Amino acid sequence: MTVTRAFDGMLDLARRALANAHAPYSRFRVGACLRATSGRLYAGCNVENSAYPVGQCAEASAIGAMATAGDREIVEVLVATEGAQLCSPCGRCRQQLAEFAGAGVPVHLAGPEGVRVTVSLGELLPLAFGRETLGPLHPGAGAPGA
Ligand code: THU
Repeated sequence: MTVTRAFDGMLDLARRALANAHAPYSRFRVGACLRATSGRLYAGCNVENSAYPVGQCAEASAIGAMATAGDREIVEVLVATEGAQLCSPCGRCRQQLAEFAGAGVPVHLAGPEGVRVTVSLGELLPLAFGRETLGPLHPGAGAPGA
């Protein structure tokens, strides 16, 4: 039996973001959606640039939208692609997600048929470098405006 789960709108929002991706160079369109502790959902797409290294991943776009709105804690992540290849977050995105998400946060990887794989952020980024590594130097970290 196939169990269909809508991921409470995350899949739909990620797909809508994907449709707006600016990926004329790779033609690999990605949409991401984050759920924050507030319950709000934030979506983003990849935004490429003619100067290739300047491009931005979909996860980074979604994180930017989240931080801009004042949320600081991610409880669920979904990354969607439209072809056979899933988009497992790149190394940079794993670190960026870990700034706002704990090791146990689920990361759903979706293809055109829906979510195909779910892993935890800790599986994607074991032995993560985090703010606790820095000690008490940044007591305000985690609060909007800090
Ligand atoms: N991309 C993402 O959006 N997220 C990732 O985690 C990996 C890659 C994008 C960047 C680029 O626009 C395209 O996929 C091909 O690398």
